Amino acid sequence: MTDGHPRMAESACEEVLVLDFGGQYSQLIARRIRECGVFAELLPHDTALERIRERRPAALVLSGGPASVYSDGAPELRRELLELDLPVLGICYGMQAMVHVLGGRVEGADAGEFGRTSLVLADGGGRLLSGLPHEQQCWMSHRDSVFKPPPGFVALASSPGSPVAALESPARGLYGIQFHPEVVHTPYGTQILDRFLREVAGLEQRWSPASVIDEQVQRVRAQVGDGGVICGLSGGVDSATAAALVHRAIGDQLTCVLVDHGLLRKNEAQQVVETFRDRGIRLVHVAAQERFLQRLAGVVEPEHKRKIIGEEFIRVFEEQAAKLPGVRFLVQGTLYSDVIESGGDGRAGAATIKSHHNVGGLPEDLDLELVEPLRMLFKDEVRAVATKLGLPEGIVWRQPFPGPGLGIRIVGGEATAERLEILREADAILQEEIRAAGLYRELWQSFCVLPVVRSVGVQGDGRTYAYPIVVRAVTSEDAMTADWARLPYDLLERVSSRIINEVPGVNRVALDVSSKPPATIEWE
Ligand code: XMP
Repeated sequence: MTDGHPRMAESACEEVLVLDFGGQYSQLIARRIRECGVFAELLPHDTALERIRERRPAALVLSGGPASVYSDGAPELRRELLELDLPVLGICYGMQAMVHVLGGRVEGADAGEFGRTSLVLADGGGRLLSGLPHEQQCWMSHRDSVFKPPPGFVALASSPGSPVAALESPARGLYGIQFHPEVVHTPYGTQILDRFLREVAGLEQRWSPASVIDEQVQRVRAQVGDGGVICGLSGGVDSATAAALVHRAIGDQLTCVLVDHGLLRKNEAQQVVETFRDRGIRLVHVAAQERFLQRLAGVVEPEHKRKIIGEEFIRVFEEQAAKLPGVRFLVQGTLYSDVIESGGDGRAGAATIKSHHNVGGLPEDLDLELVEPLRMLFKDEVRAVATKLGLPEGIVWRQPFPGPGLGIRIVGGEATAERLEILREADAILQEEIRAAGLYRELWQSFCVLPVVRSVGVQGDGRTYAYPIVVRAVTSEDAMTADWARLPYDLLERVSSRIINEVPGVNRVALDVSSKPPATIEWE
């Protein structure tokens, strides 16, 4: 097992460690630093000092967090972290913890500051904020405030609720800001991070998603030697990018397997097959529709469907793997968000991905070593890598799609060939219209659902007794929460009339106007 780190050990590329004190924006801090061209990784705030030292980071960032430094069980900032002779930037809670530990004054206020807040610089902004407007907007989210900096620190700014909204001690390399530079509502936020990285930490702009390609190519070659490698393709951007990257490294040592369970969207399998064959990548396309349909006969309950589809997928995949002699490695499109969610950092072993997201993924008991070239990347970085690798737009920007596919979007009844056909055709019309309206990339997901109920309609001269199709379109950042998309009425009208006119077996179209929570994105 390797750590899958995109930077080679001997690479001169420096990194920033973001210590996570539980803030909702911690991942975003790492992303913004990477956007500034510096590699950043998120680690738990209590990571052993020894491990932090071993990494030899160029700087530390202390994230925000929901606690008060005075509350029981508040995450502790160890003083030693401030004495590693590294530049440190504390953000929100990170700054308060720094001030508290170094003898400044942090106090609870009755009313905190939440949302857009006006920030006024003092002393020309000092080293960290110099060159910025005297008065600017920033985004705050805190209850406690800093009232007095620790000895040796200078206050750099204030806001209505924060007498000290930024401070620094350049001699000790310590800096703090009460506001959130990582969110878009702090217009100068990226500039401030950039200043910390370049002026304070002396870092150069070296890292980019594209630089990952060269590094991973070397790393994959070193990991697999002349061993055979297998990769399951789902049609999604993650597995496609991982496969394309590994293929660049080891060419024909890689064989991709596309298990077509008959639950994919219209033309999806075909597009993947064409894309990969055009690139000269070995691909086995397993047409397993019949097998899956047989196993799904009579199955109504969604968890049961998921289980059957997952099991059958593994069986088919194993059969294929057994036909490929010398295969010792399995490529997986694990992303950094999966690694973080499962509590591991990028260097510590494999992520245990939630079973939820694992359906249609990998057989667990295959005796294969994992190759995970995207393990340190955020989704948007994967898209940048995919584009750089020349994957087509239709794959690069494909919306997320559940492993059990259309099988779980037939709700309250069995997934039969007839219903799958109806759903696939309706879904294709929706996708076509959403793309034509230029909305595809803006939506987290847009899809159709087929509830297994029928109702009366009238079409031409006769009555119909047919299914409804529910249109579900959501916006979201990470699928944890989602809002229903306000699709234009004329678009909805086109979608509705096309589905009813062009898809036999449908006589109504309804729109789902629920957010998550309390609903979920998928029906099932
Ligand atoms: P929910 O419906 O829980 O979905 O709001 C959140 C995200 O997860 C996807 N999803 C799945 N992905 N297997 C998957 O691989 C599944 O069984 C599954 N169920 C939901 C869903 O599409 C959304 O992006």
